[in-house]
Amino acid sequence: MERVECQIQREVDVYLAMSQGRTVAEKLNLTPVDRIRVEITILELSRNLLIHAGGGTLIFSLIEDPTYGPGMGIEATDTGPGIADINLAMQDGYSTAHTLGAGLPGVRRLTDEFYIESEVGVGTRVYAIKWLMSPRRSIYER
Ligand SMILES: Nc1ncnc2c1ncn2[C@@H]1O[C@H](COP(=O)(O)OP(=O)(O)OP(=O)(O)O)[C@@H](O)[C@H]1O
Ligand SMILES: [Mg+2]
Repeated sequence: MERVECQIQREVDVYLAMSQGRTVAEKLNLTPVDRIRVEITILELSRNLLIHAGGGTLIFSLIEDPTYGPGMGIEATDTGPGIADINLAMQDGYSTAHTLGAGLPGVRRLTDEFYIESEVGVGTRVYAIKWLMSPRRSIYER
């Protein structure tokens, strides 16, 4: 099992993380469309780490599930302020930074599995999975 850890502390780290994540997605042999989904996921989660939590850690892993087979895990953790109302944060258009508020709901739609846990004053953990054989892939997508 491969595991790559990226510290996100500055703007440039976002692009380094995207590049490292791209390498993991290539190893998994994700389709071009899924690779873009993974890139956007990394972009949004690392931007959230920078903007809302003052930095944090991204971990990419190649995983294997007895049911779903091989996949890529993308985990973002921080010890920032946390999210008081996760349901609100997951809504399209909700942003405390006066931006689009499209990041977290977008990541949930782009990935196959999405988990978020957060505690005010402690931090936030987001974990998303993209399976190689996406259970939701349409027959038209290659
Ligand atoms: N790591 C985090 N720590 C603390 N709060 C967070 C974190 N990630 C997201 N949030 C909170 O959840 C809200 C929604 O996040 P989301 O990524 O959907 O939107 P946004 O970052 O505000 O805007 P956008 O991503 O569209 O530029 C944020 O405005 C912020 O309040
Ligand atoms: Mg965001």
